[in-house]
Amino acid sequence: MLFCLILLFIFNVCVSEKSDLGFGLNIGNAIDVFANYGDLSQVTQVVSGEYEEEEKEEPIVPFSEKNIRVFANATSTENEWESLSANMDILLCENFEDLLDKYFSNFEIEGTDKPWKAFMGDWIIDEIMRTLGIIYDGKPDNCCYVLVRLTKKHKSEKLDDLQDVVVKDYVKRATENLNVSDPSEVRRFMKSYGTHYIDSYVTGNFIYQVFKYKRPWYNAFKAKIRSGLQTGSSNLRFYFSSYFLTQVGDIRIASGNKTIESWARQNLRDSQYLYSRPSLLRLHYSPMLAYKLNHLLDNGALLGLGLKTLRPLFKDRRKGDMYAEIVENDLQLWEVNVA
Ligand SMILES: *[C@@H]1O[C@H](CO)[C@@H](O)[C@H](O)[C@H]1NC(C)=O
Ligand SMILES: *[C@@H]1O[C@H](CO)[C@@H](O)[C@H](O)[C@H]1NC(C)=O
Ligand SMILES: *[C@@H]1O[C@H](CO)[C@@H](O)[C@H](O)[C@H]1NC(C)=O
Repeated sequence: MLFCLILLFIFNVCVSEKSDLGFGLNIGNAIDVFANYGDLSQVTQVVSGEYEEEEKEEPIVPFSEKNIRVFANATSTENEWESLSANMDILLCENFEDLLDKYFSNFEIEGTDKPWKAFMGDWIIDEIMRTLGIIYDGKPDNCCYVLVRLTKKHKSEKLDDLQDVVVKDYVKRATENLNVSDPSEVRRFMKSYGTHYIDSYVTGNFIYQVFKYKRPWYNAFKAKIRSGLQTGSSNLRFYFSSYFLTQVGDIRIASGNKTIESWARQNLRDSQYLYSRPSLLRLHYSPMLAYKLNHLLDNGALLGLGLKTLRPLFKDRRKGDMYAEIVENDLQLWEVNVA
């Protein structure tokens, strides 16, 4: 109750219409990346949660961070899909940080080349590993991971050119009154109107699994892929044999849907010798399983996000540049302060 009153108070001050404030994926709207920096994955569905199986009442949504409309007549272009891609992504990662970079390779935040830190930089390494389906083995992180994933894109949206777009009146007034030479005023502006706007996004879902390799075999696999091993090749299985691996991760679903995760745990297994282990490769060799999975997957995950600084809000170019510079400097500082 108190929270609602506070919210109402804040938004009476700076927002003219209630409909300008949202918590869904609204293309062109602005967010303050510092509001949840280091933990943006709490307000976006980007990794499978670590909670136990439980019946979630409300459907999973890709994005729930507070956002506010800043452009009056921005337009965008949409695309829709409905099937699981036929190709498996096989991403080779030199170390754990590289794994996180690759995992977040479809995420861009202007002003940083480490978007993963905004999403989970505040998490302890153990926790991050568990959401990726692997466990911390206490060994120094000198080698190497392979991230395998199959993606089902649902919808993408990208903002069109902002050239002739008009900025909402209340935002325009605020930019005109802002003294960009006063850092505390600038930071207040960030809290009210945001730091970045949503330039593009992709929703859908993906299924993923992480494998940890022994160095010589990782190098051999890498060389093989460079020389053109097709991901559709029947040789693929060879490079995932137990002999090469120090760890086989659990299969995870980006939307965190535990019903589908249990289905995957039961159905996607590969038998080698006497025991069986989870294996995404099964989807590759069994069109029937891939077909079933395609029907099961919900569209609750955020697969990609493009955030750009609010520079274009400012009519005065110099002011816009200074605003973007302060946002980007702050991002660098925050980045050093996490993980
Ligand atoms: C937005 O509105 C302005 C003023 O009405 C107009 O000049 C401009 O062309 C519009 N832009 C778009 C993308 O519709
Ligand atoms: C803007 O802020 C700077 C730094 O605080 C200050 O020196 C300057 O006088 C301010 N300008 C105006 C127009 O208020
Ligand atoms: C999880 O996926 C199943 C199967 O697609 C679906 O029926 C269920 O509603 C999903 N759960 C949530 C919380 O979205």
